[in-house]
Amino acid sequence: MLNLYNWSWLLLSCNLLLLPTSTWAETDTLYKSLPSLREQARIRDTWLKERLSRIPSLLKKYGVDAWLMSQREHAEDTIWWSIKNATDYDAHRRTVLLFHTNESTLEGKPNPIKWVDNTGQVWPELLQVLEDFDPRRIAINVDQNIAFSGGLHVGEHNVIAKELGQQWIQRMVNVPLLGNEYVTTKLDTQLKYYRDMQDIVWLMMEEGFSHRNILPGVTTTEDLSWWFREKMLILNVTTWNHPRISVLTEESFPGWTGTEDVIQEGDLLHIDWGITAMGMNTDTQHMAYVLRAGETDAPVSLIQGLKKANRMQDIHLETMRAGMTGNEVLEKCLAQMKIEGIEGQIYSHPIGDWGHDAGAVIGFTNLPEHVPVLGELIILPDTYYSIELYAYHFVPERNETIRFRIEENAYWDKDTERWKFVKGRQEKLYLIHKPRETPVLEVQSEFAVSL
Ligand SMILES: *[C@@H]1O[C@H](CO)[C@@H](O)[C@H](O)[C@H]1NC(C)=O
Ligand SMILES: *[C@@H]1O[C@H](CO)[C@@H](O)[C@H](O)[C@H]1NC(C)=O
Ligand SMILES: *[C@@H]1O[C@H](CO)[C@@H](O)[C@H](O)[C@H]1NC(C)=O
Ligand SMILES: *[C@@H]1O[C@H](CO)[C@@H](O)[C@H](O)[C@H]1NC(C)=O
Repeated sequence: MLNLYNWSWLLLSCNLLLLPTSTWAETDTLYKSLPSLREQARIRDTWLKERLSRIPSLLKKYGVDAWLMSQREHAEDTIWWSIKNATDYDAHRRTVLLFHTNESTLEGKPNPIKWVDNTGQVWPELLQVLEDFDPRRIAINVDQNIAFSGGLHVGEHNVIAKELGQQWIQRMVNVPLLGNEYVTTKLDTQLKYYRDMQDIVWLMMEEGFSHRNILPGVTTTEDLSWWFREKMLILNVTTWNHPRISVLTEESFPGWTGTEDVIQEGDLLHIDWGITAMGMNTDTQHMAYVLRAGETDAPVSLIQGLKKANRMQDIHLETMRAGMTGNEVLEKCLAQMKIEGIEGQIYSHPIGDWGHDAGAVIGFTNLPEHVPVLGELIILPDTYYSIELYAYHFVPERNETIRFRIEENAYWDKDTERWKFVKGRQEKLYLIHKPRETPVLEVQSEFAVSL
């Protein structure tokens, strides 16, 4: 499964180890290029069309005849971001959307029927459509727990009640699983680009965690975080999640902000971060080791710690099935870990349209054994999951028990009906060698040149 040894990695490694520092800028050419923005928009709209075409059957599945959304510019329904066209950003004025089952009187009408309005004209027109169509049950997004089914703002709800009246409000229902399923379900055609995004992420970590970027005793974890931020600009991707870089110790958990440390030889480093492109998001955690003088590899205890976390990933993927709840997966994984004498924690989540996407979660850092509501949801096929966990491992060299924290993104494989890692997984710590050549300031000025 390990995919470190593809050509680009080898090429980059050769650059790092053999070539003079002046070739640094050339490493940019090793990165996958995503399509032009124009082409990306075309592709995204193709995906959108396919996703929208599924809504009538989703409505039937959940026993509703229509799905009503109303939102104002800057106060969009959460669903807006998964139904808008690629070249749209915020909703305009008041945008009202009525999805329907495409049957009876509305057959042949656009789906959704859409109004963009700031005069109030939408309400009598919507009323007329409803009277003609006569839907019995109309879903509105008022769920109190699931964000993807709870995006109707209270002001919009009030105006709908006032303008449409009690008769229609009585037919409106909360269908939490509708928005949830629409958002979480992915298309086969997205995977190719999701893979390209993972390639970018992995190569960035390979480059970021190298002696070109880290001078022990000088470079800080924050310097490195900002290097990732700047590099994303060069690579034409953005982020939903500031790169959080930590020196791992017994205390550095959960590390929502990273640590503020000067990086030293012998440190175990950790990154938690994701990129955003083409309406998709990644979320990855890997680890690196800063070699001490004379060392050629990380201490055995650190290698074993990573192995233990890898074993937890195996257990997780072997256990996880569509149709189980998040809590069932969690419970089974924890039971298997107990049998194997592994201590650790799992806190996996769906990923896709959002870094933390719609769907069942499998643990939370603060809810290690059972998650109410979001853990009780059923895991759906055709979804992406971020497998996120740590294994405790005692490191005798430090007399410390460290959490070995790793995270990889997985897709649903139709043939095996299992989740598989999109790119692979980290099975080897990045090693930061001693800088061989130029001191750090000159290295930094090279970055400036490569910009
Ligand atoms: C980023 O976009 C610019 C402008 O389109 C392009 O020249 C450059 O090659 C792109 N970089 C990558 C790594 O795709
Ligand atoms: C997306 O664009 C199409 C074609 O212009 C338009 O009919 C549709 O209403 C747009 N979708 C939304 C949600 O605005
Ligand atoms: C609804 O039906 C029309 C044809 O009657 C079709 O063009 C359209 O794609 C359908 N919409 C959806 C969302 O299925
Ligand atoms: C290791 O740490 C424990 C407490 O965390 C302490 O009691 C013990 O003395 C330490 N051992 C050594 C060899 O420093």
